[in-house]
Amino acid sequence: MNSKKLTIAIDGHSSCGKSTVAKQLAKKLHYTYIDSGAMYRLVTLFAMRNKLIENDVVNTAELANRLDDIKIDFRYNEAKQQADAYLNGELVEDEIRSLAVSNNVSAIATIKFVREKMVDLQRELSKSGGVVMDGRDIGTVVFPNADLKIFMTADAEVRAERRFKELQAKGDSVTFEEILENVKKRDFIDENRDESPLRKADDAIVLDNSNFTPAQQLEWLEQQVENIIAGK
Ligand code: CDP
Repeated sequence: MNSKKLTIAIDGHSSCGKSTVAKQLAKKLHYTYIDSGAMYRLVTLFAMRNKLIENDVVNTAELANRLDDIKIDFRYNEAKQQADAYLNGELVEDEIRSLAVSNNVSAIATIKFVREKMVDLQRELSKSGGVVMDGRDIGTVVFPNADLKIFMTADAEVRAERRFKELQAKGDSVTFEEILENVKKRDFIDENRDESPLRKADDAIVLDNSNFTPAQQLEWLEQQVENIIAGK
């Protein structure tokens, strides 16, 4: 078994289960999992709380001024066996996953100075290698030399249904239609922005998981890792 610690980049469309499978894979490999989307969500929550974004319009000058006031960290939660997101020391893991934050995050993620700060942080947290990171620009911008790049997608309806169930289970009162609209809107903004748009890296392997169970997709991903290790 090759002991080289790999860098694994998983990009793709909104709500297609990237983080679920990335977490599972990181656990199996004893690697660090980094949720780059959570970072954009934390900046978004900060902007919302400080009224720096309203009706999709961002007060970019003020956000730029306040950027250094945003302290992001992730702390391991033993009970949940996963890292929770903190904004300036406050646990906001559930709040950043709400539909309200999802509705604003793609506007915040178009901003160049925000992306630069997040990418620096992503690289800093990955310094020691052995990382699975998911997002939109990981294989294209953050780690263009990643050992393995995956591009995940699934039908928009399937993705919306999965996210709907997830939020319902948490007790959020949302409708399927609202979620579907959000998923489509985020895909559009993410794919059409100037800064680091969402696109498949030329050397990424596509995984359309519309008809995969979580177990099947993990198995598929593990096979891709085996192939890399075996030098295939
Ligand atoms: O989990 P889900 O796919 O719904 O979203 P996420 O990974 O939490 O990302 C939230 C949003 O952050 C995305 O819709 C993108 O607009 C943005 N994002 C980004 O621009 N670049 C990344 N590397 C990760 C997320």
